Amino acid sequence: MFGKIGRNDPCWCGCGKKYKACHMAYDEKLKDFKRQGYVVPRRKLIKKPEDIEGIKRSAVINMACLDAVGEAIRPGMCTQEIDDIVSKVTRDMGGIPAPLDYEGFPKSVCTSINDVVCHGIPSEDEILEEGDIVNVDCSTILDGYFSDSSRMFLIGEVQDDWKQLVADVKESVQIGLDHVKPWMPMGHMSHAIDEFCQSKGYEVVREIGGHGIGLEFHEDPFVSYVLHEDEGMIMAPGLCFTIEPMVNMGRHDVLVDEDDEWTVFTEDGSPSAQWEVQLVVTDTGYEVLCS
Ligand code: MF3
Ligand code: CO
Repeated sequence: MFGKIGRNDPCWCGCGKKYKACHMAYDEKLKDFKRQGYVVPRRKLIKKPEDIEGIKRSAVINMACLDAVGEAIRPGMCTQEIDDIVSKVTRDMGGIPAPLDYEGFPKSVCTSINDVVCHGIPSEDEILEEGDIVNVDCSTILDGYFSDSSRMFLIGEVQDDWKQLVADVKESVQIGLDHVKPWMPMGHMSHAIDEFCQSKGYEVVREIGGHGIGLEFHEDPFVSYVLHEDEGMIMAPGLCFTIEPMVNMGRHDVLVDEDDEWTVFTEDGSPSAQWEVQLVVTDTGYEVLCS
């Protein structure tokens, strides 16, 4: 997994320094973790400074889309209008909506209402109603760099326990971020989220989770929230991934709509909430790139 590279050769990260003065100790450390049986990222998953800059430029568009949706969203609006906003803002700013035609997805953004867990398809026939909670999940490509984040929106007056769910899931993502520590296994972060959600009586969806991202929409690793603390990929500095727990007020079980083959529902009909952030692991913790 580590190409042959001499101590005095230029470092693989493109910084211009010698390998021994840059990533040599880093690679040794990863090898050590691998020997101990941990999953470690391949080199191509480690983002270089210029990749991070590219992802940040892409994220400017992604966050502008969600800001614009936040200003326009209201009861009586159809979810197709959300798709129109995302499509227009993205293209006006020079980007491409990543979901469009991704594995056949027909729209530019995912809109997931109430018991829809994720991958809801915007439609003219779907009208937002007072009391709904909706997740808008937006992803952008700019110059080959991918950004991805989602936010929850409350439509008018929402019942207290649903509002609490939305707030708690947002807090769970922050707790996850607080547990992103360089050289710790991913489970350290995941477990903290799962434990918090369980303490509130919720269940986190198991089949779908976060993912590596940057030069592709979905890269390794799969970011699960049901890992043991000492499991999962080592969070090496430069690893870029999303934290995006889908949290159900009821049971964790989900179903996929048989007709559209995209929309994911809670099996028990309970409401589900999700917030998504994209981050890069740093030498001291993390930096949020998109939210
Ligand atoms: N944006 C989703 C994520 O957070 C992926 C959606 S795939 C799509 O990973 F095709 F439905 F857009
Ligand atoms: Co994502």
